[in-house]
Amino acid sequence: MSRVFSGIQPSGNLTLGNYLGAIKNWVPMQDNNNCLFCIVDLHAITIPQDPGLLRQATREAVASLIASGINPKKSTLFIQSQVSAHSELSWILSCFTPLGWLNRMTQFKDKAGKNREQACLGLYAYPVLMAADVLIYKATHVPVGEDQKQHLELTRDIAGAFNRYFNVDHFPLPEPLIQGPAPRVMSLRDGTRKMSKSDPSDFSRIHLLDDAETIALKIRKAKTDPNPLPYDVKELENRPEAQNLVTIYGALANKTVPDVLKDFAEAPFSIFKPALTELIVSVLNPIREDILRLLKDPHMLDLCLREGKEQAQEISEKNLSEIQELVGF
Ligand code: ADP
Ligand code: NA
Repeated sequence: MSRVFSGIQPSGNLTLGNYLGAIKNWVPMQDNNNCLFCIVDLHAITIPQDPGLLRQATREAVASLIASGINPKKSTLFIQSQVSAHSELSWILSCFTPLGWLNRMTQFKDKAGKNREQACLGLYAYPVLMAADVLIYKATHVPVGEDQKQHLELTRDIAGAFNRYFNVDHFPLPEPLIQGPAPRVMSLRDGTRKMSKSDPSDFSRIHLLDDAETIALKIRKAKTDPNPLPYDVKELENRPEAQNLVTIYGALANKTVPDVLKDFAEAPFSIFKPALTELIVSVLNPIREDILRLLKDPHMLDLCLREGKEQAQEISEKNLSEIQELVGF
């Protein structure tokens, strides 16, 4: 059986992008894989966080995953900082990672921006921690978005370097898992940029906690062009906003883009947008209600997190002992 690991940063504001690009694809994986899903709060503090908000966001992320269909009875769902083996392995792996490899990571360059000298060591070492997250469970498969592909490549390189140094086959080299039908959900205000919770405009994205009225307003205001939808997918190529809305529709309805176009060819946005709104609301509303219900039951969440933590500790500590033995501790 494959072992799947994936992490998501704690945010109470998970977006439709996170849902369609990641979480929705994880749900069916639970049936025929051994899955671990982790709220990566250690990664979150590579940028400044308010402690109270971070704690709240972490719980909201857990509730959001459960409400979206991650079943803690089938999968191991836990919080990264509660399982200390992640940090311990991260240190060991950092001693097998040449600086030159980290210097090539484009996400650090993007996130650090011009102010490189002020960026913290944690932001630079982020991909080593991600390697530890995956390798501490000897995960064989990792669902990754476009943005994390380079980091998974690095994970494989580090695993290989460790195996070669000790002349062992300790870590399997994890394979990327292809994302589903919407690997890149774009901003509703600018079809050339990723829908992201860091975008300053709230109208650029839909949150799992948005109510029906908010969703309707955001879709009504979504940028489009004046033309009706085409018959042919190819005609969407130079219409990023239209393409994005049709892709979202297809991903939510479990239909291909050509099938969505079959239903809506020649429809103007005044027809398509209300249909899209209705679909988004019908999918997100039950999730939203479940999130709110789960957040009102802290005891249930605590119980579930304790179980997840214990399962994750059991696997990771056994592996960490073997690694410590190899290293000479
Ligand atoms: P963000 O990119 O919003 O900061 P994370 O880095 O925590 O969120 O990503 C969590 C998961 O959600 C990753 O697998 C990432 O690829 C996916 N994801 C985030 N934004 C989008 C998007 N706009 N479209 C598709 N997938 C996305
Ligand atoms: Na996220």
